[in-house]
Amino acid sequence: MTGAGLVVRDLSVGYGPVRALRRVSLEVPEGAVVTVLGGNGAGKSTLLRAISRTLAFHGGAVTEGTVTLDDRRLDALPPDRVVAAGVCQVPEGRRVFARMTVADNLRAGALGGTRAGRSAALDRVHELFPVLAERANQRAGLLSGGEQQMLAVARALMATPRVLLLDEPSLGLAPLMARRIADTVREINTQGTSVLLVEQNAALALRLATRAYVLEVGEVTLSGPAAELAASDEVRRRYLGVVDEDAASDADRTTDRTLTRWKG
Ligand SMILES: Nc1ncnc2c1ncn2[C@@H]1O[C@H](COP(=O)(O)OP(=O)(O)OP(=O)(O)O)[C@@H](O)[C@H]1O
Ligand SMILES: [Mg+2]
Repeated sequence: MTGAGLVVRDLSVGYGPVRALRRVSLEVPEGAVVTVLGGNGAGKSTLLRAISRTLAFHGGAVTEGTVTLDDRRLDALPPDRVVAAGVCQVPEGRRVFARMTVADNLRAGALGGTRAGRSAALDRVHELFPVLAERANQRAGLLSGGEQQMLAVARALMATPRVLLLDEPSLGLAPLMARRIADTVREINTQGTSVLLVEQNAALALRLATRAYVLEVGEVTLSGPAAELAASDEVRRRYLGVVDEDAASDADRTTDRTLTRWKG
């Protein structure tokens, strides 16, 4: 079964003998912000690489399952065709071309579009991130960490994606900069781009998203509306760092009941 938007169905991934994802299913409806939470090694980056078809660059492969965008299979396409189909990934670790200028980094993200399309995309990016216009001729490696993250997001936007895949955009940023990135993600979404956001920063992600999934050791263990996950004792305890003795001893409170649980 598939539907509108990005749909991942029963996706399993291995890196050689290492099984990194096991039958993961999730949906990013058109226009939504959806988040995947999970700790180190849960499989968040692997999931995004499987969707963007960049797994092979990391020695990984999909062993079962499908990825579709509006019923169109993406899982047999090469990575550049996935971008052309409207799905663009911002990899973790804010990788920019450090020795290239900011302007050239953005140009690299726009390869393939029409001149008018590129120019419109650049205007949008400069409006979202004025600092990138001010620093257009500076080497990207000289930008601050937060500015490099902005550039990484901006470079992906140059391809005018319908779905943006974001891998831990807040990682290593001071709270103020993380909030600015979050505000920008909201703005990008308001302008019509769907977002799949993977994060360890659950507080930030759950504020942005309408729907959330929890990934643990390669499997989805919990999913539901973001507001309900944010209120669930399990998520509060494990991902929001809330210590609540009563809640800890009462794992099945009403807030948890509407969430879908996979393990058992
Ligand atoms: N290139 C690789 N080769 C072999 N194993 C890998 C590779 N990349 C990831 N893995 C393994 O796959 C599993 C999932 O890793 P992944 O990087 O997707 O997790 P993650 O949730 O993104 O973690 P983090 O929050 O630390 O970025 C881990 O067990 C990891 O060791
Ligand atoms: Mg990762």
